[in-house]
Amino acid sequence: MLFKSLALTAAAVGSAVAQRPSNESLCDYYTTALLMNNTAANQMTLLTLVVNTAVIGNYTTPNVGIMVPGILTPGTFNGTEVNLAPYFSGGLASSNTGGSSGMSVNFLDGGGAAPLKMNMPANDTTSNQYILLTHLYEYFGTLLGCSMQGTSNDYPAYSGDNSMYEVHKFMDLSAAEVGYFITQVALSGASFGVTADDLQPVGTALSTLFGHRCAAATVVIPTQPSALQAICIDDTCPIAATSADCAAYTMAAVEPVSANSSNMASSTTRGTATSTGSSTATATSSGAVATATKNAAAQLGVGMAAVAGGFAALLL
Ligand code: HEM
Ligand SMILES: *[C@@H]1O[C@H](CO)[C@@H](O)[C@H](O)[C@H]1NC(C)=O
Ligand SMILES: *[C@@H]1O[C@H](CO)[C@@H](O)[C@H](O)[C@H]1NC(C)=O
Ligand SMILES: *[C@@H]1O[C@H](CO)[C@@H](O)[C@H](O)[C@H]1NC(C)=O
Ligand SMILES: *[C@@H]1O[C@H](CO)[C@@H](O)[C@H](O)[C@H]1NC(C)=O
Ligand SMILES: *[C@@H]1O[C@H](CO)[C@@H](O)[C@H](O)[C@H]1NC(C)=O
Ligand SMILES: *[C@@H]1O[C@H](CO)[C@@H](O)[C@H](O)[C@H]1NC(C)=O
Repeated sequence: MLFKSLALTAAAVGSAVAQRPSNESLCDYYTTALLMNNTAANQMTLLTLVVNTAVIGNYTTPNVGIMVPGILTPGTFNGTEVNLAPYFSGGLASSNTGGSSGMSVNFLDGGGAAPLKMNMPANDTTSNQYILLTHLYEYFGTLLGCSMQGTSNDYPAYSGDNSMYEVHKFMDLSAAEVGYFITQVALSGASFGVTADDLQPVGTALSTLFGHRCAAATVVIPTQPSALQAICIDDTCPIAATSADCAAYTMAAVEPVSANSSNMASSTTRGTATSTGSSTATATSSGAVATATKNAAAQLGVGMAAVAGGFAALLL
C-alpha cells in the first residue's frame, strides 16, 4: 500500500484532541482522530507512521513540533551514550537465527530509510527489513489494542516469535539501550499528538514487560502462549519488581561481538555512564538531540525505574 498523499486530519495534529474515552483503545482512538475511519487499513497506517517515525526519526508533515531522533540515530539516555544502529545493520553478531550464538544479519536490506519515508516497510516483500518492520507494526498494534487487526489482509495479526527474550537475547541490551528505544517510541507517538496522559502508561508498560531483568514468563500477544519477555538483560537492568524468575533465564547474558572491524558499538556505547545525568549538555553535534531526548523522556515519565501494572488494564 502506498500512502504518499496521506492526509492527516488537521484537527488532530497540532491542537488538543478531546480526551480519550476510557473504553476506547489507544489505537482505535488515534486512528479515528488522525485518519477518520477506524478501519483495519487505517489502523495499519497509524502503526506504520508511529513505527517508521520511531525507527528513522520524524519525517511526516505535519507534526506537532516534536523532534524524534529515531532508534537508528545515536543519542544518550540518562547520561549514557547509546548507538543502536549496529544491531540493525549487521555490525554486531547479535541476531537470533535459532543457533546457540548470535549472527550478523542486515535488517536494513530492503532499501533502508527511503521506503520508510514513503510509509512503507521496505522496497520489497522478502527482505529481513520487510519482515522486521511488518512484525513491529503487528506487535505494537496488538499492544495498543487495534480492534480491527486480524479481521482482514489489510492488517494481519502478529506472526512473529512469542518470546521477546529469545528474539533479543544475543543483543545483551542495557537499561540505557532499552530506555532509549522506548523513548523513541514515546516521542514518535507524541509527534502525532498522542497526549502525555496516554503515553505515560505505554512507557510504563513497555518498561515493566520488557525493561526488567528476570521478568517472569508472561503472555503479551493474547493468542500466543506465555513466554519469557525480558529484552533488558544485562546487569544495568533493574530486576523485575514482582515474581522475578532469574532461574528461567538459563543462558548467560554475553555481549555480542563485532561482525566487522568498522562497526562502532564499543563497550562505552553499550552501557558505561559517560556523565552523571542532568547537567551535561556537551558541545558535541549530538548534544542538542541528547538533551531534547532526555528532557522529553523525563517529561513523558518514561524510565526504567517506572513500575506499574501490565497492559491489560491500561491498553487492551
Ligand atoms: C523495548 C521494547 C521492544 C519491543 C516491544 C521490541 C519488539 C520486537 C519485535 C516484535 C521484533 C520482531 C520479532 C520477530 O519477528 O519474531 C523485534 C526484533 C528486533 N528488535 Fe526489538 N523490541 C524492543 C526493543 C528493542 C531494542 C532496545 C533493540 C536494540 C537494538 C531492538 C532490536 C531488535 C532487532 C535487531 C530485531 C531483529 C531481531 C532478529 O530478527 O533476530 N529491539 N523487536
Ligand atoms: C464506550 O462507552 C460509550 C458510553 O458508554 C458507548 O457509547 C461506546 O459505544 C463505548 N465504546 C466502545 C468502543 O465500547
Ligand atoms: C470513511 O468511510 C466512508 C464510508 O465508507 C467513506 O465514504 C469516506 O470516504 C471515508 N473517509 C475516509 C477519510 O477514509
Ligand atoms: C522533525 O521535527 C522537528 C520539530 O518539529 C522539525 O523542526 C524538523 O524539521 C522535523 N524533521 C523532518 C525531517 O521533518
Ligand atoms: C531495495 O533496496 C536495496 C538496498 O538498498 C537495493 O539493493 C535494491 O535494489 C532495492 N530494490 C528495489 C526494488 O528498489
Ligand atoms: C560493517 O558494520 C557496519 C555498521 O556497523 C555496516 O554498515 C557495514 O555494512 C558492515 N560491513 C560489512 C562488510 O558487513
Ligand atoms: C539513571 O541512572 C541512575 C544512576 O545510574 C539510576 O539510579 C537511575 O535509576 C536511572 N534512571 C533511569 C530513568 O533509568
